[in-house]
Amino acid sequence: MKTEFRPEPLAQLSAPSLVAYCFEDAPSSSGTVERLPEETRKQLQELQTTGELTGKAFECTVLRWPTGLAAAKLLVVGAGKREKFSETHLRHLVGAAVRKLRSRGGRELAWILGSTESSAVACVVEGALVADYDPDRYRTERSGSEKGIDNLWLATGGDALPAEAEAALHRGRILGEAQNFTRDLVNEPSNRMTPTNLAERATEMAARFGLECEVLGPEEIQGLKMGAFWAVAQGSQQEPARLIVIRYSPPDAPEQPVIGLIGKGITFDSGGISIKPSENMHEMKTDMAGGATMLGVMQAIAQLKPRIRVTAIIPATENMPSGNAFKPGDVITSMSGKTIEILNTDAEGRLVLADSLTYAKQLGCTVLIDAATLTGAVLVALGNLTTGVFGWNEDWVNRVLAAANVAGEKMWQLPVDDDYRDLYKSAIADMANTGGRYGAAITGAMFIGEFAGDTPWVHLDIAGTRWANDDKPYRAKGPTGHGVRTLVHLLTDFAG
Ligand code: BES
Ligand code: MN
Ligand code: ZN
Repeated sequence: MKTEFRPEPLAQLSAPSLVAYCFEDAPSSSGTVERLPEETRKQLQELQTTGELTGKAFECTVLRWPTGLAAAKLLVVGAGKREKFSETHLRHLVGAAVRKLRSRGGRELAWILGSTESSAVACVVEGALVADYDPDRYRTERSGSEKGIDNLWLATGGDALPAEAEAALHRGRILGEAQNFTRDLVNEPSNRMTPTNLAERATEMAARFGLECEVLGPEEIQGLKMGAFWAVAQGSQQEPARLIVIRYSPPDAPEQPVIGLIGKGITFDSGGISIKPSENMHEMKTDMAGGATMLGVMQAIAQLKPRIRVTAIIPATENMPSGNAFKPGDVITSMSGKTIEILNTDAEGRLVLADSLTYAKQLGCTVLIDAATLTGAVLVALGNLTTGVFGWNEDWVNRVLAAANVAGEKMWQLPVDDDYRDLYKSAIADMANTGGRYGAAITGAMFIGEFAGDTPWVHLDIAGTRWANDDKPYRAKGPTGHGVRTLVHLLTDFAG
């Protein structure tokens, strides 16, 4: 999708489709409809009178050869209640226009800007890119309407552009593309997205954007004494594990902090010997979403170039039952030296993350942020819409929550508390890998936190938010890329 500003007066902009939005309280004269020539608004006034234009959220009204405009078509998108309008709504409105037009074969869209403020410009581009994505890449007959939008024009109507507008457009592109990159990785089935394949995609991305990338294999993982990671990895007879490390270290950045981004990369989670029920097991191809999130973040910061050091670490493996698999009751020794009694081989995410956190500290990371599809319990608590945020360090938790707010991604803090530690005590080892059914998102998070030690650490449980179960007017059902924008904002805002 090409994106560019168009400075013409709106009446003279000859575009196949010009898009405006309006609010419920005054559909023919509010939002960016207000910016249209009087004759056009008169025509819309008639539609309002007949009840064809109401401004209800995501209502799409199309005028062919609208009076007073050079554009062939005017699409008016309802924006709902004015009081509720936000940048999230703005992303969604653009998204709804994109999906509406492309479903009818449209390939060009001229969006009328209501504001040329940089955050609004970035939102428009993000919303369009996120909407212009479909997960059906293995459908052999994709119809023309699914080809997507080629050109997005940001129509200023002749308003002067602030100096930072071009940069905002660029940032919106980078964020939207990074989010879609993550969605692509999560979308892939596990026969195509193996640990080897994930490492190849990471290597390619790193080479393309000038990042340092290193991939370790089974011998090196065992050589590092990553007993917890290896316990999970040893069960896969077909697919060797990979430990992906990507470094972004601009020479002009301060020596500290070094942010470690650790992403769970289970390319398929069968549960192992504690095997999952078959009903929704296919969804476990998405269990590398945390790793995919961190790859999206690295792609974005490689382009945005904030002055801060970042290292991404992605433990990638399948979790499979086999004659080699680890078993309930096994006691393993993690890289940190802490011993772990395995009570359930399906609690594998915390094991691969445990050693990755230890390794991150060894590589010099001074702040640890992990993203993982860790628990079904977080879905019970927060559903599909909100990521669970955990951590002992209130400063860093609050920074993440603030960034989520700017990025327009819903995140909510859940507690960590010493009194929960009893739940994952073991009679035989330093700790057990599960803490029982109740509060499982909390004990899962805290287990990981044990390996952070005194290093500031934030855990994002994206088990719910990684995947959208329904189509929305502004995005397809499927992988979401939730979390990418938050972490990019966190890093760029922290760097100033
Ligand atoms: N990958 C799953 C968590 C998950 C569940 C992700 C649903 C996405 C959707 C994780 O490895 C897992 O199996 N967790 C167990 C932990 C339990 C055995 C302590 C769970 O949540 O049931
Ligand atoms: Mn599992
Ligand atoms: Zn898992």
